[in-house]
Amino acid sequence: MSDLLKPANRAEATLLGELDPARFPKHIAMIMDGNGRWAERRHLPRVAGHRAGVKAAREMIRTCAQLKISCLTLYAFSLENWRRPEAEVDFLMRLLREYLKREMPSIHRNNIRFIVIGRMNQLPEAVRRDLEDSMRLTARNTGMKLVVALNYGGRAELADAFNSLLDHVRANGLSAFHADEQTISDHLYTAGLPDPDLLIRTSGEMRVSNFLLWQIAYAEIYVTETLWPDFSRIRLFEALADFQTRERRYGGLGRNVAARDRAVGDAPSEAERSDRSPHPARMGRG
Ligand code: FPP
Repeated sequence: MSDLLKPANRAEATLLGELDPARFPKHIAMIMDGNGRWAERRHLPRVAGHRAGVKAAREMIRTCAQLKISCLTLYAFSLENWRRPEAEVDFLMRLLREYLKREMPSIHRNNIRFIVIGRMNQLPEAVRRDLEDSMRLTARNTGMKLVVALNYGGRAELADAFNSLLDHVRANGLSAFHADEQTISDHLYTAGLPDPDLLIRTSGEMRVSNFLLWQIAYAEIYVTETLWPDFSRIRLFEALADFQTRERRYGGLGRNVAARDRAVGDAPSEAERSDRSPHPARMGRG
């Protein structure tokens, strides 16, 4: 894994040149979908699609680290994925262990911190051990955070957060306990990580599939028809270019509307603005 991103061809160089590194997302989350269809189209077994999926994941990790993205989260195995045939689940677990064994030295060398989110205690013992070793090995790394969602479900994460809050309340006999949004964030698996700015989903489905339900409240969503194993560097640059065209409003007015209002003398006065600003009861949806 080299520290420098060298464009592989002119198309990559052009797109890369148009991106503004100062406006890269801090956190990119990816729903890696389409391994099975990729294999099917080539008359290959589904597991060949997963092998190709690992290659694409490796390329994304390397590229995001080179672009100095702070945090990359990959949805690798959902709570619902246990419904797949046992042989496919076993293969995915073996593939994950293989990946950790082969890639962890390079991940560590590149100062990447490896983090797992999800119900790790329900994963096979050997997988859990390897994941814990990888997290321990990279715990002090200060570069990109690579978060892998395994045995993960967004609703299960919220249920786990509420239960951990209830435990805290009971253990401390807090009869007047009040939780705000920060309290809830602090009890999620992702506590301490920034919320994703950009959620990428491959293979065309317009769903969030129970992924980071709380955290993606204001994320920009980018869905591409490209199947995950074909999601190459240039496809990532395209997603970043699209992200940089978005205007993130967080429930407020966009820059264009505000500028137009100022131009027609309709902007609120200082006194009006301070009267309007943050009052929870007045905050609309984003
Ligand atoms: C979806 O394809 C992908 C998965 C179930 C996750 C598997 C992910 C990988 C193998 C990438 C590995 C990542 C790491 C971090 C090692 P699908 O089988 O649902 O495709 P389909 O919808 O076309 O059937």
